[in-house]
Amino acid sequence: KTPVIIDCDPGHDDAMAILWTLASPELELKAVTTVAGNTSLEKVTDNAVKVLTKAKVYDIPVAKGAPEPLVRNLIVENGGTIFHGESGLGGPELPENGFDLQPMHAVDLMTRILEESDRPVTIIAIGPLTNLALLFRLRPDLKEKIAVISMMGGGAARGNWTPAAEYNIYADVEAAYVVFHSGVKIIMSGLDVTQKAYITKAENEILRAKNREIAVFVAELIDFFGVGHYEIEKFPGCTLHDPTAVAVLTHPEWFHMVECNVEIEMDGQFTKGMTVVDDKNYQENILGENVKKNAKVVFDVDREKYVEDFIEAM
Ligand code: BDR
Ligand code: CA
Repeated sequence: KTPVIIDCDPGHDDAMAILWTLASPELELKAVTTVAGNTSLEKVTDNAVKVLTKAKVYDIPVAKGAPEPLVRNLIVENGGTIFHGESGLGGPELPENGFDLQPMHAVDLMTRILEESDRPVTIIAIGPLTNLALLFRLRPDLKEKIAVISMMGGGAARGNWTPAAEYNIYADVEAAYVVFHSGVKIIMSGLDVTQKAYITKAENEILRAKNREIAVFVAELIDFFGVGHYEIEKFPGCTLHDPTAVAVLTHPEWFHMVECNVEIEMDGQFTKGMTVVDDKNYQENILGENVKKNAKVVFDVDREKYVEDFIEAM
């Protein structure tokens, strides 16, 4: 089993990523750490505990991390309610918290897990990258204990927060810069693939009809989270962004990835937070510049297999 830490801001799709990890025999969840993002740090942390409680998993350590980005102010959705709702996890009824947080910062919990592990640990990063940037500045020596960072963030072709930028990168561009320049292996599941990894209304009914507690809970999360995808983005289904960062680890054969250079645009007037993805290797082929291939960028998914497995896992 691969030991993993999930660094997240639940968040509907973060919740589904946690549940899919728990259901994956290939992965061993060692800790969940939280970062302000979809909504405030207090709320996303509470939601992380509630999701694990809902799954009747009480022994995975959860720790609260950065309350705001490294440099900029925390940006939440316009009104804070379109995609994730007031609580950050709108829709289903949520349980009372079933256990307590670890009395330490998320970065200290990551440090402990990395120091104690006799195998390299995989980080599933599905919120703004603030905690990871802090970890790399505080303990650069621990980079070698990380097998790979599987992140949901960015996109070669588009954004979803601005036309150019995806939320997790836009929310903390400086942190994203630190992570993309850390030298640690990255698998970047950006919007190119996650917007193809959608679940239709009809498929969500198949999930609900399983009539199991978690299946119904997730179907209700999708009912809520799907609204913005249908109404604002006019997609054919509800986008399962964050679970993609789990599936690329357990089922790489469902995906098409290209290893290439990715840079983070930090200052662009209209493009701040953009991931500049050189999947055609222009810098080397045309300019003759030797650039570092710092990420595997995921472009495509076998959606049918993805959704079928997702439904079974839930
Ligand atoms: C990302 O932003 C959040 O709303 C989701 O949880 C996901 O991590 C998608 O842009
Ligand atoms: Ca997220």
